[in-house]
Amino acid sequence: MKIMRFGIIGLGLMGREFASSVARWCHLSAFDIKPEIIAICDRNPDAFSWFQQSCSGIEQKTTDYQKLLQNDQVEAVFIAVPHHLHEEIYCAAIRAGKHIMGEKPFGIDLGANRAILKTASEHPQVFVRCTSQFPFFPAVQKLCSYIEEDQLGRLLEVSAGFLHSSDLDPKKPINWKRMIRYNGEYGCMGDLGMHVCHVPFRAGWRVANLRAVLSDIVTHRPDAAGNPVACETWDNATLFCETTDKNGTLFPMTLKMHRIAPGHKNTWYLDVWGTKTSLRFSTKYPKTLQILHYRGGDQNWQNMDTGFETAYKTITGSIFEFGFTDAWLQMWAAFVNELQHGSPEKLFATCVTPEETNLGHRLFTAALASHKHQKTVNMLNE
Ligand SMILES: NC(=O)c1ccc[n+]([C@@H]2O[C@H](COP(=O)([O-])OP(=O)(O)OC[C@H]3O[C@@H](n4cnc5c(N)ncnc54)[C@H](O)[C@@H]3O)[C@@H](O)[C@H]2O)c1
Repeated sequence: MKIMRFGIIGLGLMGREFASSVARWCHLSAFDIKPEIIAICDRNPDAFSWFQQSCSGIEQKTTDYQKLLQNDQVEAVFIAVPHHLHEEIYCAAIRAGKHIMGEKPFGIDLGANRAILKTASEHPQVFVRCTSQFPFFPAVQKLCSYIEEDQLGRLLEVSAGFLHSSDLDPKKPINWKRMIRYNGEYGCMGDLGMHVCHVPFRAGWRVANLRAVLSDIVTHRPDAAGNPVACETWDNATLFCETTDKNGTLFPMTLKMHRIAPGHKNTWYLDVWGTKTSLRFSTKYPKTLQILHYRGGDQNWQNMDTGFETAYKTITGSIFEFGFTDAWLQMWAAFVNELQHGSPEKLFATCVTPEETNLGHRLFTAALASHKHQKTVNMLNE
């Protein structure tokens, strides 16, 4: 078993999720490579103790990410910091020769994203990927196999989205994710957008033009002391896109990234309608894939139960239920597997590429312009 030595920069919500996945790596069967976390970094030293209690092999802890990057023992780094730090830290890590898994949106804006991609292109020996875990739900893998095997017929319409509702509460205190300085002008698109776009981009669907409607619904939130401060970021974004399939045929695609969607805790969904096969999935019903095959005659939606039929094999029985942390572990298996063995056979069983993050940034930048000028933005002549 090869050991891959990892560092983590940013020990918050997602840094802890990664450490938890590493701790249960034994869940994956027939894997010939295993990550080990040997170095951790956060500017806040209070974050260290949970990691020291939870991970046995930590040799370095530091508040200075440059020191972690100077550690010759570290081969790969997971970087999970606020968006305004992506460009600086991702580029520094790539220049230091560390393979990186970077969190989305992979740069606070298009300029930062381009700088990261340029640095990556100057260091082709470094493996660079971005997170996105929802396509690893077995029902989504199944849905994607219909796309990969070209079983949809002509594409009629695609709807994809990621819906949250906790921001409906105007008393929810502000944090960096609601501040343009740290989160960026994209607002909810920077937070939720890459999750929504991963499958459409991987399918080869490209937005030809779009009209975006963005909403700033809660304009003030309490700070830590309870005083109201401006909450400037977009809460909800709806993108109406005319899109080309991989043959260049146009179809409508609606992308929703909503932080204020009543009743939705963390709902990721994808509906794909074609003349031969239509498919629906939502994390609200995480094991259900809805399928409608049309070959003439009656039109019936079927509900298919999926179990633990994962892209990367595990010890779990195939009838058992799958969830968020399982998808996150599968995503990390995809990262480590691709780094060790190159691209897998399944198109939809890998992490977001740097080029796909750039498609996302161009889309979100166009959406800002579309909303601002209240007009359709053409993306093919960019
Ligand atoms: N894939 C997902 O489902 C998902 C979910 C939530 C967040 N995210 C992304 O993960 C990233 C981090 O989000 P989070 O929710 O973990 O945030 P968080 O606020 O929980 O954690 C961020 C951590 O970065 C640390 N940090 C800040 N500046 C630093 C510096 N200069 N050096 C080292 N550490 C520093 C903070 O102290 C904090 O502990 C963001 O890019 C966000 O968009 C992804």
